[in-house]
Amino acid sequence: MSIGVIDSGVGGLSVLRHLQAQLSHESWLYVADQAHVPYGGRPLTQIRQFSRAITQFLLAQQVKLIVVACNTASGAALTYLRQTFPHVPFVGIEPAVKPAAAQTRSGKVGVLATTGTFESQRYAGLMARFTQDVVTLENPCLGLVERIEAGETAVPATEALLRACVEPMLAAGVDTLVLGCTHYPFVLPLLSKIAGPQVTIIDPAPAVARQTGRVLAARGLAAKTGGGQTRLVTTGSPAVFGRQAAKLLGHSWLVEAAVWRDDQVSMSNEQ
Ligand code: DGL
Repeated sequence: MSIGVIDSGVGGLSVLRHLQAQLSHESWLYVADQAHVPYGGRPLTQIRQFSRAITQFLLAQQVKLIVVACNTASGAALTYLRQTFPHVPFVGIEPAVKPAAAQTRSGKVGVLATTGTFESQRYAGLMARFTQDVVTLENPCLGLVERIEAGETAVPATEALLRACVEPMLAAGVDTLVLGCTHYPFVLPLLSKIAGPQVTIIDPAPAVARQTGRVLAARGLAAKTGGGQTRLVTTGSPAVFGRQAAKLLGHSWLVEAAVWRDDQVSMSNEQ
């Protein structure tokens, strides 16, 4: 049985690469909901609906665990998904505010995440629990997810957008940056260049992979042998997603098409 991985688009691939590396016997079924990307500015109720339908699709494909590799969907829907599908193990992702607060020396932490993530109760809970003694500066980097989806991870316009988000944080004394959107690790080279070597940038994906391993082990679900396989599915254009995945992950992929119909997702060849 494989493990489902969900994102609005290419962002979850930044988590998938760590999952594959750490859990090499597992097989993966990645769903990019590119019919609806970006999720970041959408109402939380709509993201819940999308996440429920994608979960039903993954369960129909017999997955044994689902990684919600999207901060926005985790913020909007993880609690709802766990209530709606109580027998399904879910692993979510959230901005790494806790480790950032623990390791900042200047007492100032910058968080880059979508508007939806910042508006979620899950994020408010993180703030209340872990940021009593630090100052947090937040920026939704509007337009950045679209640029990364367009493959513009290293162009001057993306650098300018990132500078506009991050330089005010750096000027205010931030020494730790949290990548609170799974798309953002794909602009890490640009961000590191802008922030400089003194600033720590935290990508929570390795921790998500470790947590997935722990949940698999605790439930007796871990694959012990065999080489894992990966299937990539998109609700958008398979040709486009194939090109994006090849560029971001460094080798070529055969991408399958899924479709939305009557608020449900199915493989396009099942119609
Ligand atoms: N990659 C997602 C996240 O981690 C969603 C980005 C979007 O679709 O706006 O938040």
